[in-house]
Amino acid sequence: MVDRAVLSKILIVLIVLVTSSTYLCYNFLSDTFNTFSKTHQVLLRWPKRLTSSTNQHEPFNDIQIPTTTKTASNQAISTDVGLTQVRANLSQKLHEALSNSTEQYNIIIWEPPFGVKSTIHLDQSKCGACDVSYDQGKVNDSMTKAVVFHFNKVHKMPQTRRLDQYYVWWSMEGPPALRELRGMKLSEYDNVFNLTMTYRQDSDIYSPYSIAADVLQNIQSSGSGDPNKDLDQLISKKNAMVIWMVSNCGATKGAQTRMKLVQDLIIAGLPVDRRGGCFPKNKPAPRGQQLEIISEFKFYFAFENSYHCLDYITEKLSFNAFRGGAVPVVFGANKSDYQAVVPPNSCIYVDDFENLQNLVNYLKYLDKNVTAYKEYMKWRTMKPEEMPNYGRSTKLCQLCRVLHGINVDNLFNPFYSEKYSSIPLFGHSSAPRVVTSLREWFYGPLSKDCLANY
Ligand SMILES: *[C@@H]1O[C@H](CO)[C@@H](O)[C@H](O)[C@H]1NC(C)=O
Ligand SMILES: *[C@@H]1O[C@H](CO)[C@@H](O)[C@H](O)[C@H]1NC(C)=O
Ligand SMILES: *[C@@H]1O[C@H](CO)[C@@H](O)[C@H](O)[C@H]1NC(C)=O
Ligand SMILES: *[C@@H]1O[C@H](CO)[C@@H](O)[C@H](O)[C@H]1NC(C)=O
Ligand SMILES: *[C@@H]1O[C@H](CO)[C@@H](O)[C@H](O)[C@H]1NC(C)=O
Ligand SMILES: *[C@@H]1O[C@H](CO)[C@@H](O)[C@H](O)[C@H]1NC(C)=O
Repeated sequence: MVDRAVLSKILIVLIVLVTSSTYLCYNFLSDTFNTFSKTHQVLLRWPKRLTSSTNQHEPFNDIQIPTTTKTASNQAISTDVGLTQVRANLSQKLHEALSNSTEQYNIIIWEPPFGVKSTIHLDQSKCGACDVSYDQGKVNDSMTKAVVFHFNKVHKMPQTRRLDQYYVWWSMEGPPALRELRGMKLSEYDNVFNLTMTYRQDSDIYSPYSIAADVLQNIQSSGSGDPNKDLDQLISKKNAMVIWMVSNCGATKGAQTRMKLVQDLIIAGLPVDRRGGCFPKNKPAPRGQQLEIISEFKFYFAFENSYHCLDYITEKLSFNAFRGGAVPVVFGANKSDYQAVVPPNSCIYVDDFENLQNLVNYLKYLDKNVTAYKEYMKWRTMKPEEMPNYGRSTKLCQLCRVLHGINVDNLFNPFYSEKYSSIPLFGHSSAPRVVTSLREWFYGPLSKDCLANY
């Protein structure tokens, strides 16, 4: 057992070598996604408060129920009522603007992110008319209005630049993966890009791993039409408690630390079914069957590989749990980041618990109390409209709208009033749009917890 006092003095910065992890291809339009493997390295800084305290076994009745569960049913969805109304009022105008957006603009993805080219078709009625390609030969074409650069391919920019084009900086990776792992300082990109496109909600173009409303829509459209019945059926087929799927192992200390957390939970009495590449002796969970396997478990460990990186919540880790029908136990981003994007009252936050034993006790409590457990699944019977970011257009669809002067999606940006007051909801910004300091934006104060130095 690691001594708490020692841990509190040391800032543990560990690099987890991920040998080969399934990585979600950035799906632009549909919710179907390609998977591909890549060598993927991530950084883990383990927070002090999570040091194991499995030696102090507390009585079951001491169980600490986090505040969210006390207010399970009335937890607010993080949408501003005023903005919701503005959006509703805009729908007619948006519709009109979209039907006006028939001139076809080119969007060039300068280099495919990890060598994978996927065919991307944008729905004109939702996004306006745009052709998306990897055709560098079109870069001088007057209809080419945006060139998208994946963060690891930026060095090969076109030699000449048309200033009426938007240069878009694209990353689905968090600050540690760029700064600490790849050594990218980003300081050479002051005033180079016009727009950011990342998983962060405050990106110019929001590019999340998933949108809760879409996930719910998928769940409900593949159901029987009676979400309450589907929910009861889902709960009745559960025959095990916790599953953790992990292929991010390796001989490094960070991987061991994460392993150790789960080991400590097991020592504290939690049954955890560990699957994936790190546990080849356990039953495999082949791709394609993973959701089916997850559905038999009550809980799914969705532990991100970085700590308190703004909005860094990956599809693989969190949204698979929703699709598979298990309640995610989450760790990684700040709780408020999760709450802004996940369905209301859908997650159990490791950060809510003072120590691991309390977490174990709480999960065991939920395992016994179906009524309490079910509260975490209630969202499955709600309407997609009630999910965060409902109706928000994202990724290249949002970019296409922007090229056509449709900026209403900015209303979803948490920093809307500060950041976009000069950009009209409809029409083009009179001043050029420029990302003055990419480094400051991506590594700056908002990422302080997640990145030691920038
Ligand atoms: C939305 O439209 C309604 C009805 O036309 C109007 O009363 C309300 O003030 C509008 N709200 C906003 C925020 O524009
Ligand atoms: C759409 O085009 C029509 C005809 O040019 C114009 O009158 C109208 O203002 C446009 N609407 C929007 C929302 O851009
Ligand atoms: C685009 O124009 C520049 C400057 O005229 C030229 O150097 C470059 O080769 C052109 N690129 C393509 C793909 O036509
Ligand atoms: C996350 O929460 C911590 C502690 O409340 C705070 O100091 C930090 O700024 C937050 N980080 C982000 C990215 O919001
Ligand atoms: C089970 O959970 C429900 C809902 O949270 C609660 O009202 C009830 O008291 C719990 N029952 C037990 C035995 O803890
Ligand atoms: C894009 O950024 C460049 C470099 O800062 C700037 O000169 C240009 O005007 C911007 N283009 C647009 C369309 O905003």
